[in-house]
Amino acid sequence: MSEPILEITGLNKSFGPVHVLHDVDFTVRAGEVTALVGDNGAGKSTLVKCIAGIHPIDGGEVRFNGQVAHIHGPRDAAELGIEVVYQDLALADNLDIVQNMFLGRERGGAWLLDEADMERAARETLASLSVRTVKSVRTPVSALSGGQRQTVAIAKAVLWDSKVVLLDEPTAALGVAQTRQVLDLVRRLAEQGLGVVLISHNMADVFEVADRIATLYLGRMVAEVPTRDVTHAQVVELITAGRSGELGLARPETATV
Ligand SMILES: Nc1ncnc2c1ncn2[C@@H]1O[C@H](COP(=O)(O)OP(=O)(O)OP(=O)(O)O)[C@@H](O)[C@H]1O
Ligand SMILES: [Mg+2]
Repeated sequence: MSEPILEITGLNKSFGPVHVLHDVDFTVRAGEVTALVGDNGAGKSTLVKCIAGIHPIDGGEVRFNGQVAHIHGPRDAAELGIEVVYQDLALADNLDIVQNMFLGRERGGAWLLDEADMERAARETLASLSVRTVKSVRTPVSALSGGQRQTVAIAKAVLWDSKVVLLDEPTAALGVAQTRQVLDLVRRLAEQGLGVVLISHNMADVFEVADRIATLYLGRMVAEVPTRDVTHAQVVELITAGRSGELGLARPETATV
């Protein structure tokens, strides 16, 4: 089993009177893909946004590489090497691939950008991820397919010496071939030693790429298990009922919101 790179313990998060995450424990390991699953509204995106510093947490501990980390904003997360690829991607349509990958972090100072340098880095990052379907890094993002956009967003996330990459439903809007590309990319990130978190509602995808599966049920982490130890049916049961045989909540009826 590989090293935990990110360890969350006892995380609580409320939005006003709504308690969304209850004492959540969650571990991300370097070199592994951890799937984060759960029904709509279970708290997956909220957990990711807490890790990314977008939502302040109400309580709990975050450890990064064994050290207690205080993430108060997206910059703190980025400094640690935590990157998130959101489902809505946040790419700028009118800019090309290079411009998107360096948006907000342009090299060469505010006045003079080293275009050749950025172009080379963008090309190398795409090549290191074995991305071959993007013909030119000067293509405007508006001219890319959904899968290619997803690829650029992932490449952008790994360009910055990332250690942990969290992907919130990266394949939700993609066709078969494009999903294939993104799943291959997810696997490759883990092979490069990153800790990868994949949020997905697609059990086939989860079982194909994930080393471990973490299930949120009504804001509670009910199971975090190696993929090989569970069946599709068990995971579906954990997602919908919070319990499956020995796994999950002892008394699901206690999990009222
Ligand atoms: N900014 C917010 N303010 C108030 N409530 C919120 C906010 N963000 C999320 N919630 C609530 O928190 C709960 C969990 O939402 P979240 O988006 O984390 O679910 P999810 O597991 O990502 O679901 P889905 O699979 O549909 O994306 C929901 O009940 C949602 O209404
Ligand atoms: Mg979500």
